[in-house]
Amino acid sequence: MLKAVILIGGPQKGTRFRPLSLDTPKPLFPIAGKPLIQHHIEACVKLPECREILIIGSYTTTHMAQFVSDMQKEYHVIIRYLQEFTPLGTGGGLYHFRDQIRAGNPSAFFLLNGDVCADFPLKQLWYFHQERSNALVTIMGTEATREQSVHYGCLVLEEPSKSVTHYVEKPNSYVSTLINCGVYVCSLNVFHIMADAFQRKQDGFYSGNGQGTPHPGYMSWEQDVLAPLAGTKKMYAMQVTNWWSQVKTAGSAIYANRHYLMLSNKQDEDAKKDICHVFSEVFIHPSASVDPTAVIGPNVSIGAGVTIKAGVRIKESIILNNATIHEHSLVMYSVVGQEASVGEWSRVEGTPSDPDPNKPFAKMDNTPLFNTDGRLNPSVSILGAGVVVPAETILLNSIVLPHKHLTRSFKHEIIL
Ligand code: GTP
Repeated sequence: MLKAVILIGGPQKGTRFRPLSLDTPKPLFPIAGKPLIQHHIEACVKLPECREILIIGSYTTTHMAQFVSDMQKEYHVIIRYLQEFTPLGTGGGLYHFRDQIRAGNPSAFFLLNGDVCADFPLKQLWYFHQERSNALVTIMGTEATREQSVHYGCLVLEEPSKSVTHYVEKPNSYVSTLINCGVYVCSLNVFHIMADAFQRKQDGFYSGNGQGTPHPGYMSWEQDVLAPLAGTKKMYAMQVTNWWSQVKTAGSAIYANRHYLMLSNKQDEDAKKDICHVFSEVFIHPSASVDPTAVIGPNVSIGAGVTIKAGVRIKESIILNNATIHEHSLVMYSVVGQEASVGEWSRVEGTPSDPDPNKPFAKMDNTPLFNTDGRLNPSVSILGAGVVVPAETILLNSIVLPHKHLTRSFKHEIIL
């Protein structure tokens, strides 16, 4: 029997995802018509040995209850949410709930960062882990560019065994182009190593050497567990070439939307062509009302209860539940929040932030909101929940906070 653990952080995390995370916790933000971590759950349930999925975070149970209950009904595995009493870091929550993970004596458990998206090769990862009998942790690794690698956990491997000889989380200078994808298989014995790491953290905290550690139970999986495991021949990495990315900013959500649509689009293409003119790939929720003269796609997800009026053009965008896009308006490279409204003949447009197609292995640059001059970096446009864009206005590379009623056009601005 196998289990899976998904780390989702809490309301303090995901700040680069605002204002989209103001109404919906980032792990539940819909990508290709499904909450972000439902894609993780789908990857786990494909393995018949996986019997339980534990979601660990510090969101309140009220935030997560409906989602967990929906997932429990949809998939025939046990799915539970375990709430940390305070953010305990990527390792602290895992260690705190170790008895729940160990219960039933699973052979191993998958550990998945909730903010990554990928074509998760969990079966191969599990086989790879099993082939190395002394492995406590197997990391899914992927190639990045030399410049971008330093923003991730970097791995150095011994060949041909693939054991990790060196691990540095976000190094100051170049270490390796092989990076940690935040997807792992762990044997239960990893908790013995974590017990030592936990003890060291406790000793440091109470002797005053905690170096700003927010809580004695706080532990970083990457720095306190993975880094010391390197060179012990108990940690291995499986390098993959499958699609992998992270969801940090709204721009990365549009990018992830495209890939998940390509991977999981099960909706009947012909049925969608009956609704309106579509360019693949597109997700249209069955309850959305779309005028037959609208032209949608590629890379568009339309949520429940959305109304798309005549002559509308939408591409490379996510339209959240109950939004209305009025006649002849255009939406591209944008996220339109729940119950927002775009007036007729208006234009809401952002700038794509895809990885550089000319650089092999390039990942998304999760550029900060502002550049060094204090100006807004060009990015996707975001309309927060309930925003009203009047008729005949242009919104270019702008972010509008929830419930704002605009009265004119804006370019490169945050409208508070
Ligand atoms: P950043 O670039 O700072 O975002 O770092 P990162 O990409 O390495 O991500 P980070 O280590 O912050 O988080 C990795 C995963 O763990 C994400 O899915 C987070 O939501 C999750 N996570 C982070 N901190 C916590 C925590 O305190 N508790 C739990 N349960 N999950 C966490």
